[in-house]
Formats: sequence, structure tokens, C-alpha cells
Amino acid sequence: MEKQEIRTFGRRHGKKLSARKAWLMENILPKIAPNESESNEILEIGFGAGEHVREIAIANPDKIIIGAEPFVNGVAALLSAVCDSDNNIKDEYKNIRVWPDDVRLILNNGKYKFSEIWVLHPDPWPKARHEKRRLLSSEFLNLLSKNLATGGKIIIGTDHWGYYDWILDQVKNTSLKIDATESEIIQTRYQQKNMAHTDSPKYIILKNK
Ligand SMILES: C[S@@+](CC[C@H](N)C(=O)[O-])C[C@H]1O[C@@H](n2cnc3c(N)ncnc32)[C@H](O)[C@@H]1O
Repeated sequence: MEKQEIRTFGRRHGKKLSARKAWLMENILPKIAPNESESNEILEIGFGAGEHVREIAIANPDKIIIGAEPFVNGVAALLSAVCDSDNNIKDEYKNIRVWPDDVRLILNNGKYKFSEIWVLHPDPWPKARHEKRRLLSSEFLNLLSKNLATGGKIIIGTDHWGYYDWILDQVKNTSLKIDATESEIIQTRYQQKNMAHTDSPKYIILKNK
């Protein structure tokens, strides 16, 4: 990041990793770093434990899926799920690449041309004093716009309706337009954990103007 960015995520570390997960972080993660020379990509930002990254990897075997997530335990959970008992990457997940950090660090060059960018349940930062930590500001949406392929789309899902309205407002100051709003339910761990207590998710699909 060229300038000091406001931090949009919470903790980076949870409980101590198992010996296997620590091994995967040291030995597998460096081998699946995103590579700007690969094209035909889909990006998921803030993948949590990576359930949806795995789903889109299976659904799009001819595409490279880049997942970005700074929470170490989430990254380790994804690595554990994509590797078999011999710690080799399973065939159906060989198209996954992982960026274990703030996604803005790989987007600032504007070199990617994603056909899809997914942001499922971004941290809502509900307290007014934390609003500046919300990831989906107009500035960030414009950064996503620069990294979208022609005809590419950004799919955002949140069950925090206040954040949803806030995002719609941010879109007004961007080079993006609203293509659709959908209520289809995409299950992620975050959503399952909160399903009983929160509103159902709302979706926004954005495209370049
Ligand atoms: C509420 S969780 C949702 C996780 C997952 N998408 C799900 O639905 O289960 C939001 C995630 O976004 C990640 N995140 C926040 N800011 C980010 C950033 N700048 N770059 C990449 N990931 C980020 C957080 O670390 C966190 O894991």
C-alpha cells in the first residue's frame, strides 16, 4: 500500500495452529501465491475459512480463483481443506491461489482483470466510530472497478442491512453501476453461525458503467 490504509479487519491470529496446519502454512502457502501472469481469474475477498472459495474453484475448473484473507486461522483452514491426507493439493482445488493479507496490497497496481469479485459478509463495523473501517467505501469500490475485466461483476452479500444501505450510497460516487440486487442465499460459515440471530442476507451486483 502506498499510503497508510485504515485497517478493515479484526484479529489476524486465533488459537494456535495444529502441527499439520502450521506445516501447510510454511510449505503449501508459498506455492500457491497469486501470480500476475496468470489470467482468467475470479477473486474472493475476506474468504473466512474458504468454503465459498472451494465452491467456486470446483464450479470453474478452467479459471484461477484468488482468495484473499488476512486471518491466519482462516487461511490455514482453507489449506487444510484443499489438501489430502498426504498434504498434496487435491486435483479439484489446483486452481486456487491464496493471498494471506489485506487484498488492497495486490489490487493497487490495477493489473488484474477479474471476471468476478466476491465479497461475502464483509465486517460490518456497526459502531459509528468504526464506520471508517468499512471495506466497501467508494474509494475501495473504485479500486475494484479498475481490476474488473470488461463485463466483469462484483457480487456483494451482507446480512447487515445498515451496511447494505451504506454500500448503495457509496456506489453513487464510483464508476460502477448497480446491475442487480438478489436475495439468493449463499451459505458461508459466518452466515450459518449468525442465521438465527440476524437478518437474512441481501446481495448487490455491480458492473462498470
Ligand atoms: C465477517 S468475515 C466473513 C468471512 C466469510 N466471507 C464468511 O462469510 O464466512 C469478514 C472477513 O473479511 C476479512 N477482511 C477484512 N478486511 C479485509 C481486507 N482488507 N482484505 C482481505 N480480507 C479482509 C476479515 O479478515 C474477515 O475474515
